[in-house]
Amino acid sequence: MGPLPPSADDRLIWDMWESQFRLPVATVADEVGTFRALGNAPMTTAELAAEIKVDERALGIHLAALASSGLVEKRDGRWTATPQARTWLHPDAEGYWGGFLFRFRETIPMHAQLLETLKTGKRPADAVSGGPEWERGHMSQEVAERIAKFMHAHSMAPARGAAAQSLFGDIGTLMDVGCGSGVYGIEIARANPRMQVTLMDLKEMCREAAKFVEQAGLTGRVTTAPVNMFEEEWPTGHDAHFFANVFHDWSEETNRLIAKKSFDALPSGGKILLSEILMDDELDGPWYAASFSLLMLVGTLGKQYSLPEFREILESAGFTDVQATRTGGGYYSLVSATKP
Ligand SMILES: C[S@@+](CC[C@H](N)C(=O)[O-])C[C@H]1O[C@@H](n2cnc3c(N)ncnc32)[C@H](O)[C@@H]1O
Repeated sequence: MGPLPPSADDRLIWDMWESQFRLPVATVADEVGTFRALGNAPMTTAELAAEIKVDERALGIHLAALASSGLVEKRDGRWTATPQARTWLHPDAEGYWGGFLFRFRETIPMHAQLLETLKTGKRPADAVSGGPEWERGHMSQEVAERIAKFMHAHSMAPARGAAAQSLFGDIGTLMDVGCGSGVYGIEIARANPRMQVTLMDLKEMCREAAKFVEQAGLTGRVTTAPVNMFEEEWPTGHDAHFFANVFHDWSEETNRLIAKKSFDALPSGGKILLSEILMDDELDGPWYAASFSLLMLVGTLGKQYSLPEFREILESAGFTDVQATRTGGGYYSLVSATKP
């Protein structure tokens, strides 16, 4: 008996923590009138946002979570409330549950956070997230230590899943950009003994990553590069750039900028690799991606993207051959593209 080593599959834990969004995304929809509006007429996201007076971008993320909960559905670009929602959540329905669910608006703190974000399109001022810290481009060592620890736990299984992918066998030098604790770079280096890995992040985070590298016994083969990816020159000489959970922190516009910086620093034939949880192409689920996107909405400037959205972003920078595979690391996929 006793502790066991990590595997690549931690979906049990993800299902558990993402369940925190299941009820509040519905109580918020009840409060702002989503089920009445979509129970009465099909609407596009823009039409519904105007009708119930909420932020359109945030509403798109909420609707994906409601759709993957079975409460709304999208057909030909228009949303409607499902028969279940029209039976139990339409305020004029005989079986309306609102009188009971109403109580949870007060008792579940996530209700207030999701409501504020939906109304304003901005994350709550009291959001507990790394986003506001790294967006400043610097942070205290104490904050870096806290972020590195929680990202290490969050990313262990997907890092193992990514590291097992055969495409790393063709890569001699890899830069893990926005590395956090370095968990991905470390696992990929472990699985590929001839690979040299550079962990790039803000300087305070690099100090934390160096501690994890030392614990893993990889000092020398895995090194750190303290670089602000927006403000400083990127190191060159890598066959591939790897980004895990970085693009989901930022807007499409910022991601096009990051992709261009990567493109410029890579050699011809170089690869860009993204470890992300992907939304469906229709942007209406699945729940594990839609609920993660709600977390991005309340804590960062980003969201979870679909493969077509990543294709558009990466091709805008000049990359070609954009593909995705499920890695078997939790719910994660690996998106890859090439610099011609
Ligand atoms: C969500 S964490 C991802 C960490 C790690 N890749 C993982 O998946 O576990 C985002 C990382 O991006 C880093 N980051 C944010 N802004 C940055 C910048 N301007 N330059 C370099 N790194 C940055 C943060 O410090 C943080 O470590």
